[in-house]
Amino acid sequence: MEFLDKLVLPQSAHHMVLLKYLLVLTFILLIPYLSVLFGSLTLSLYFERKSAKTSDNKYYHFAKELIDQVTFNKGVAFALGLVPMLSAAFCYAQLLHLSGLNVPGYILISFLFLLAAVILIYTYKYTYHLKEIFEFASNKSDSQSGIIEELESYNFRTSHLHKRAGWYGIIFLTIAIYMFIGAVQSAVDTSNWQNGSDLISIIISLDTITYFLQFLAASIGLTSAYTLYRNFRSNSGKEHSSSGSIEFVKNFSLKTGLIATIILPALIILNIFSKPVESLSFNMFGASLAALFLLLFISILFYVMIKESSVKFSSMVIYLFVGVFTFIVIKDQFAFDTSTKKQFAMLAANYEEYQNKIKEEYGLAVEAISGADIYNGKCIACHKFDQKLVGPPYNETLPKYDGKRDQLIKFIMNPVKVNPDYPAMPNQGLKPKEAEAVADYLLTTYKK
Ligand code: HEC
Repeated sequence: MEFLDKLVLPQSAHHMVLLKYLLVLTFILLIPYLSVLFGSLTLSLYFERKSAKTSDNKYYHFAKELIDQVTFNKGVAFALGLVPMLSAAFCYAQLLHLSGLNVPGYILISFLFLLAAVILIYTYKYTYHLKEIFEFASNKSDSQSGIIEELESYNFRTSHLHKRAGWYGIIFLTIAIYMFIGAVQSAVDTSNWQNGSDLISIIISLDTITYFLQFLAASIGLTSAYTLYRNFRSNSGKEHSSSGSIEFVKNFSLKTGLIATIILPALIILNIFSKPVESLSFNMFGASLAALFLLLFISILFYVMIKESSVKFSSMVIYLFVGVFTFIVIKDQFAFDTSTKKQFAMLAANYEEYQNKIKEEYGLAVEAISGADIYNGKCIACHKFDQKLVGPPYNETLPKYDGKRDQLIKFIMNPVKVNPDYPAMPNQGLKPKEAEAVADYLLTTYKK
């Protein structure tokens, strides 16, 4: 993954800040999407199994509904999943340049797993529909037995593909997410920066494990809310096969939603405790507290909906969940900020060095401050060496500074009244280095 590091252009401190904002935006798209994708696929697989065991149609329909709700459009997977993950890799490559951490590399690997998972998940979805079409056709065409056989064999193969796609899909997706979380968390833990971060220590780090648990709970919570929202918003236009099935979807989503939102705060707190001490900050606690507060509110809404057996708050719950995810992302970013201050100071220094190198390359030699230039730019209006202008000629005043360079510098930096025949010299606002340079220039020049 060296090549990512080669693409890096050193950035100024201001650009670094922009990159961090970009990272926050990226996460705000990516994390909720991955959550709903993971939650929907897991529940869909679970209910498909359950329907195979009980041959209850409502489980079967729910499983299909669940996968359809995240795959309604192929663009979504690109816009909310694949592209943000790539852009996160590039942001980290810039931000962690020269740190010895391979975060962007690990993110690229999870990107590949995510790509494979997305392909498998869409296969899982399409074979769901194909299977039904084959079943439907083989029931209809009872006249020609040859066709029936063919249909049945296709049906069998599609079912097989369907199952495999589903299970491999969830495995690949889990690997992608776990690896991504591990990489992002390892960027916060500065203690392992120097020894480099090997894959094993990322995988078994407490931080990664607790964050993954937090992700699981958030994913089930958000998926439940999203399912409610998709199925029960007033204009969803869905006719459900039986009212029993719709009741089931409602009750299931409400209950799992409530359970997930009750568990989630504990996991968030657990994750904070497993973070390295140097990443903790007041801002981070603030953002966590805001997330916890919203979660409390969500669980109350879920509870009320269960009590009243209604879904009236389902869209509100979605908005609140977006808030929770945003605060979690902000919290993580604060942790990253705090623990990486040194890194950014180093990069800023590196940037200056880099700029000087570029200037040299273009022949804009790094300005050594030139006394002659300062004299010609600032002093010449009032001073000549051999003539009186506004100020006295240098040839008269400089001899007394011979061997007293420091005093001359002091005067130039901070002129005081000397000669009653002249007005006072206005302060020229030179920097120490500039005053030194012009003093040297004057002292060496007036003698010639
Ligand atoms: C706006 C006019 C003005 C400019 C510009 C100006 N000077 Fe002067 N300078 C004066 C005057 C007037 C005096 C005489 C002040 C006095 O004797 O109190 C003076 C006096 C001096 C003296 C003599 C001090 C002494 O101890 O007698 C030095 C040396 C000097 N200037 C250096 C500089 C240098 C170097 C610059 C440019 C960075 C500069 N001046 C720019 C007006 C100017």
